[in-house]
Amino acid sequence: AKSLRLGIAGLGTVGVGLIKIIQDNADMLTMRTGTSISISAVSARSAGKDRGVDIAAYAWEDDPVALATRDDVDVFVELIGGDAGPALAATEAAIAAGKHVVTANKAMLALHGQALALAAEDAGVNLRFEAAVAGGIPIIKSLTEGLAGNNITRIMGVMNGTCNYILTRMETAGLSYDEVFEEANQLGYLEADPNLDVGGIDAAHKLVLLSAIAFGTQVDFDGAVLEGIGRITIEDIRAAGEMGYRIKLLGVTQMTDTGLSQTMRPCLVPQSSPLAQLDGGTNMIVVEGDSVGQVVLRGAGAGEGPTASAVIGDVMDIARGINIPVFGQPANTLKSAPAVQTAVE
Ligand code: HSE
Repeated sequence: AKSLRLGIAGLGTVGVGLIKIIQDNADMLTMRTGTSISISAVSARSAGKDRGVDIAAYAWEDDPVALATRDDVDVFVELIGGDAGPALAATEAAIAAGKHVVTANKAMLALHGQALALAAEDAGVNLRFEAAVAGGIPIIKSLTEGLAGNNITRIMGVMNGTCNYILTRMETAGLSYDEVFEEANQLGYLEADPNLDVGGIDAAHKLVLLSAIAFGTQVDFDGAVLEGIGRITIEDIRAAGEMGYRIKLLGVTQMTDTGLSQTMRPCLVPQSSPLAQLDGGTNMIVVEGDSVGQVVLRGAGAGEGPTASAVIGDVMDIARGINIPVFGQPANTLKSAPAVQTAVE
């Protein structure tokens, strides 16, 4: 049988989840791909730490660049995070060495996706990022495969579970923003830099990746209009409720006559909308296409199992020999569209 050998950099929640799937489901993965999927080597900040999985059989590399370029690695799995630094260096090195890359790193792709996609397509390797957008929800594959024959008219979504948790708790428990922020912190929901969550940046990173696929435009994070949830008060939420609305940190991307409108900000969502039904730390994405109409995807946007589920799906595509362009069409055909900086209703 064919084989596909992984090098995994980053052994946090997602890396551990990926290792568990590969260890627990080896036969199923082989059956479904016709390929034996194995792990050659891993890399993380601390070698000795007990992570609850047995990694003794895998080679250890301190340096993710060394890991990414090993001869016994076919796919570099980047789970380090961060928009630059080791994640970017190792991803670039992997592509240059002719390795496929699977990443969960929305920040890196939102800022460097265009250059990385050009490099990957030049090198003839996959660069896959299902896990980077809405965790376990297969939104990238939906857009690049199942819905690929549609002209996408609009995508809307709740793409940061932490913000949705905070807004939901404020509403249902009657707690202040500061109180729920502290609760989310205690629960370990917040990113290392909490402003990535509550400032809407993490969600906007995801939105701009969807825009590129939906509209064939170059990834343009700077063109997104961005506002976080830090100024929302319990009074705002109550007033919205009295008018028949809920407040959600909502991302909307659509192509207009004057350019690409990408907004990520607190919005009034009618209580009858599916988006308003979303409580707690989950995600929901609404896609509108000219042939399909409206498709609603809902699920866990973070966490060990859901995010690892997205990563292994990408790995399995590569095992099957599938290679589709990073953003669904060749990166050198992506247009530069003017950014609309004002609201579009
Ligand atoms: N902090 C993110 C969230 C995790 O709350 O949705 C996934 O990007």
